[in-house]
Amino acid sequence: MQIQCAILFSGNGSNMQNLIESLHNQTFTHSHTHKECSLHIALTLCNNPNAYGITRTKNLHIPCVVLPHRDYDSREDFDKQMIATLRSYKIEYVILAGFMRILTPLFTNTFRTINIHPSFLPEHKGANAIKDSFYASQSYGGVSVHWVNEELDGGEIILQEKLENIPNESLEGFESRIHALEYILYPKAILKALHLLPQESSPHTSKGCK
Ligand code: GAR
Repeated sequence: MQIQCAILFSGNGSNMQNLIESLHNQTFTHSHTHKECSLHIALTLCNNPNAYGITRTKNLHIPCVVLPHRDYDSREDFDKQMIATLRSYKIEYVILAGFMRILTPLFTNTFRTINIHPSFLPEHKGANAIKDSFYASQSYGGVSVHWVNEELDGGEIILQEKLENIPNESLEGFESRIHALEYILYPKAILKALHLLPQESSPHTSKGCK
């Protein structure tokens, strides 16, 4: 059995690359059926023609469809095109990795979708989560992986971890520790969400150096 997944991104694409390197075409055991199951990243999709992640997909030899959202009159029209594209690749699960577009219920009701967010949700939703966590009164930031629903950065948490602040650390230092945690947490969370257990030789853990 093979699970068909797509990764959506908008920019740098380091999480996308990490997921492909960690999970693509790896074989796992399904924890319910005990059957062998491989995870196939059949497609990546990007809404930003200038995203560096597009170059990464070429180097990784994974198909990348670029759909500039500005070409569509409404969010619904854009989501309809994404749905049609994803269906043409028989995608079962959608993985968001820095995809910075709000999805309509049309999309979220069509595909089981997973997102990573660089804060300890429900704290610091939105596009500036790392900065907001850094300057907030709490002594920690974090990373959360969750199922996507129609609410921005809402949906059931799959896995999340706090990252304690280090006194006098720069924003850049904090940000790079957040990303390092993302590279470890996201592959683990996807396996948990899909009920997949690693097999002995499966390099499912991240190298953590994007
Ligand atoms: C990541 O930090 C991800 O958590 C964040 O965008 C960054 C993308 O980096 N996503 C969000 O803020 C979603 N609300 P990447 O393109 O290098 O993976």
